[in-house]
This record gives sequence, structure tokens and C-alpha cells, in this order.
Amino acid sequence: MSEAPLLNATAITKTYGSQIGCENISLDIHEGEVLAIVGESGSGKTTLLNCLAQRLPMTAGRVSYRMRDGTTRDLAGLTEAERRFLMRTDWGFVHQNPADGLRIRVSAGANIGERLMAIGDRHYGQIRETAHDWLSRVEIPGVRIDDRPTAFSGGMRQRLQIARNLVTNPRLVFMDEPTGGLDVSVQARLLDLLRGLVDQLALAAIVVTHDLAVARLLSHRMIVMKGGRVIETGLTDRVLDDPRHPYTQLLVASILEV
Ligand SMILES: Nc1ncnc2c1ncn2[C@@H]1O[C@H](COP(=O)(O)OP(=O)(O)OP(=O)(O)O)[C@@H](O)[C@H]1O
Ligand SMILES: [Mg+2]
Repeated sequence: MSEAPLLNATAITKTYGSQIGCENISLDIHEGEVLAIVGESGSGKTTLLNCLAQRLPMTAGRVSYRMRDGTTRDLAGLTEAERRFLMRTDWGFVHQNPADGLRIRVSAGANIGERLMAIGDRHYGQIRETAHDWLSRVEIPGVRIDDRPTAFSGGMRQRLQIARNLVTNPRLVFMDEPTGGLDVSVQARLLDLLRGLVDQLALAAIVVTHDLAVARLLSHRMIVMKGGRVIETGLTDRVLDDPRHPYTQLLVASILEV
């Protein structure tokens, strides 16, 4: 890929007191690329994701991002307005628990429309139409537009959270175990849907998962973490078919089929 990376992270470290969250991690992500972060529980996946997404202050390190105007900026130096623009428009963040990423007391339509209003859309009819369109894209019947997320199943809530995130045409979406809390059959459908959307929209995504099958299906590249450090990185197929680090070999061997 010839273009400069969309996001570059250099030597990110996050400690919680004496506890290491993640240590000295550097990575790039290019436009349209899906990166999976895998590793056992406590390996630092969520910590790293939250540092990259500027949701958690880093102890050390630097994240830079190529803005829509083509300039690459150190995220620590953004103005509050630029930061809001990223969070509300150019980035999405999909939480494992949909309740953390939705407003549970307002309708499905309002959950989607709110992101549009936040970027200045004021035309009610158009907002509703766009919300309707996005509900159907995530396979939620349009007649449910005025229902609250509390009336939805877990899978529907997760799909609503995805619609809410994608409606502003983000270029980069962060996801923390997006299929984590769901039944296996619901997971499979959601993964198919996500894969389709990521392809159609040429989204870049950073997906945290402990499930190698999710990494296989969604990602181009992956990094494997253990104890807060990256122990292996490479193209997803290479890492899964020919793991080099003994820990990755163990991880892959412990799954029957990925
Ligand atoms: N708020 C916190 N305060 C103290 N330590 C924390 C905090 N959050 C995370 N940690 C520690 O940092 C390390 C990495 O945790 P993190 O949540 O990033 O792991 P993870 O890979 O996302 O795990 P899981 O798969 O269980 O979600 C762990 O040792 C954890 O105990
Ligand atoms: Mg986590």
C-alpha cells in the first residue's frame, strides 16, 4: 500500500498503577484495512483499543491519524472541536455490550438519528428516512423504528449499535468483542453482516476478539497479545495457518477449526 497509514501508533504504554495494561505497542492501519487484536483474557486488548481510540489516557506513546483533509495529526494536539468531529463522524466505536453504545431510553430511530443531528443534520424527514434505511441494512424491520432498544433482542441491539455507528460514514471503526455476548447462531449472522458492511463501505476497522474464527473471517492482519505485549503480528491467514510464536501455536491448536 503506497498511501500513508490512516492511523499510526508508536510505542503505546498504559499502566494502571503498578499493573501493566499494555506495553510499547506500535502499529499502523491503512484505509480499508481490518486489523484484529487477539489474545487471552487480561492480555491488554481492551486497554490498547481504548488508548488508540483516545478513550483512555496513555502513559506513554503517540497516536497520529490522517484526517479527512489529508493532514496527519498527532491526536494529542487536536482541538476539542476536531476531537469531537473524529468521535462523532469519522470514527465509530462498537462496544461489546450494546447498552454501553446505545441510548437505551430513546427509540431505535432516534439512536441512529442522533449521530446525524450531532453533525448538523436538521431535516427531520430525511433523518428518519436515513434511520429507516440503516435499520434495513442491519436487518431490523422498519416497523420497529419507534421501539426502544430495551424491546430488542441482544442481536438486534448489537445491529442497532452498528447502524448508529456507521450512519455518519466513518472511515475507522473500533470494535471490542462485537459478537461477544451473543449466541453462536446469532454471532454467525452478525459476523456475515459485519463482513458485508466493512467490504461495501471500505471501512478500516480494529477489532478486538478472543475468538480466532472472528479474526479469520473479518481481518486482513492480526496482532497477538500476551501480558500486555505484542508477541506476533502478520497477515491473518499466515498467522493462523503458520503461527511462529509458541503461544500463538498453542492458541491456534486449542481451537478445532478456524
Ligand atoms: N481499570 C483498571 N485498573 C487496574 N488494572 C486494570 C484496569 N483495566 C485493566 N487492567 C489490567 O490491565 C490488564 C489488561 O486488561 P484488559 O482489560 O486490557 O485485557 P483484555 O485483553 O481486554 O481482557 P478481556 O479479554 O478479559 O477483556 C489486566 O491485567 C487487567 O487486570
Ligand atoms: Mg477486553
